[in-house]
Amino acid sequence: MNADRAPLVLVSNRGPVTFGEDGSVKRGGGGLVTALTGLASHRDAVWIASAMTDGDAKRSQEAGGQPFTVESPAGGEYQVRFVESDPDAYDRFYNIFANPMLWFIQHYLWDLSNAPDIRRHEVEAFEYGYNVVNEDLAQAVVDEIDGREEPVVMIHDYHLYTLPGLVRRARPDAFLHHFVHIPWTQPDAWRVLPTRIRDEIYEGLLANDIVGFHTQAYRRNFLQCCRDLVGLEVDFDAGVVRNVGGHDVWVRAYPLPIDATATRRVAQSDRTHHFEQELLRRRRDHLILRVDRADLSKNVLRGFSAFDLFLEQHPDFREKVTFVAQLMPSRTDVPEYAEYLERIEALVAVVNHRHGTPDWMPIQLKLRDDLEEAVAAYKHYDVLLVNAMFDGMNLVAKEGPVVNERDGVSVLSENTGAHEELGEFALSVNPFDIQELAASIHAALTMRPDERARRADGLREIITGRNPGDWIDDQLADIRRKRESQPAAP
Ligand code: G6P
Repeated sequence: MNADRAPLVLVSNRGPVTFGEDGSVKRGGGGLVTALTGLASHRDAVWIASAMTDGDAKRSQEAGGQPFTVESPAGGEYQVRFVESDPDAYDRFYNIFANPMLWFIQHYLWDLSNAPDIRRHEVEAFEYGYNVVNEDLAQAVVDEIDGREEPVVMIHDYHLYTLPGLVRRARPDAFLHHFVHIPWTQPDAWRVLPTRIRDEIYEGLLANDIVGFHTQAYRRNFLQCCRDLVGLEVDFDAGVVRNVGGHDVWVRAYPLPIDATATRRVAQSDRTHHFEQELLRRRRDHLILRVDRADLSKNVLRGFSAFDLFLEQHPDFREKVTFVAQLMPSRTDVPEYAEYLERIEALVAVVNHRHGTPDWMPIQLKLRDDLEEAVAAYKHYDVLLVNAMFDGMNLVAKEGPVVNERDGVSVLSENTGAHEELGEFALSVNPFDIQELAASIHAALTMRPDERARRADGLREIITGRNPGDWIDDQLADIRRKRESQPAAP
């Protein structure tokens, strides 16, 4: 069967929308939803996801646990099937194992001096949390593909590493394609996990036919892990893990593009115009912008420290520049995240107190998730600061330049996936080097107009050169090629 025509099932922890108790619907946050929204609108697909709120559970029950059609506030219609897990299991899965454990390992947020103690609590979070949610979602996948011939299942992200093994056991004929949206770290970072858990994770992942990443660097790291931690034969040039229980696993890089047309549409909306008016009324000569989830990996504190240093070193910029930081509170039941948010607010207060005047607040902190408000700010920044310590891709680095109207300069961490594509036209920074960050802010704000325009044009050209349709087409082409080259994994 032609793989391009095979029925497509997507599965991820977070779905395209989330429901409030009153039935109101919001777009799901984060890069995964942005990516899959583009994908689902290009293909006929059923999207299986966890019911993450009581509202999601209610909506799922109304649909009898079956797929239902929903319109996302961000545009597009989706077939969604929510899966409810036991609340305790879900809490262990989300708040103890996936975040922080896997997320921290995959962003190098733990070094050995602050690595967690692994006790029963953590092991049980894997056994009775992570695995339970993976089993629940795997069961929904198996139900969904029941009776379909040679189905294609696209599995997404670090929440679902043990799911492929479960689906494979039930449906040896299924084609399993797993895309990991976050970095893949080098082998030693994985040694924090108990060997047995680590083995289960790799065993689950290697039940896929293809494993995809945003960058060549993560792809290489994954191959290295398969060799060094699992003892498998790998071919780095071809990107293949050989002979995993009789089949080969292809390991590929598919850098995720944004849907520039959709972003530009949001830029023209009435709501965006309303936020723009507001922003322009309070605007100083220069605007520095960051838009992120309030996540430790985003390196928000060092960004503010760099701005503090910049103001100290360049007092001529005082009262002339504002730093707008729009941060979406995230995973606030995980203690590390709650504490991080407190530290962010405290540092903003310190910097504003140190440099502010009665009519000028140097940092404006907006703790909310509002797409139109962010896009309004994208249009008018002079500097876009993306200084993540490590980041799978970072879509803000792609969204900003396509709607910006001021030839704004991107200050971009060399440890983001986006840097592999955009580094040439951004000011590259080492995210740990606060002095370099401060100097880059200054360089961006004083750059000659022709140089700003050259860089902004370069960024726009790369970003708009591909769209999410191309991204999914590349993956489907590999699925077709692999199917033709050998039977699916046994
Ligand atoms: C990142 C992850 C996604 C996740 C998103 C938001 O982009 O790669 O899998 O959905 O963050 O995080 P959350 O925990 O709110 O789903």
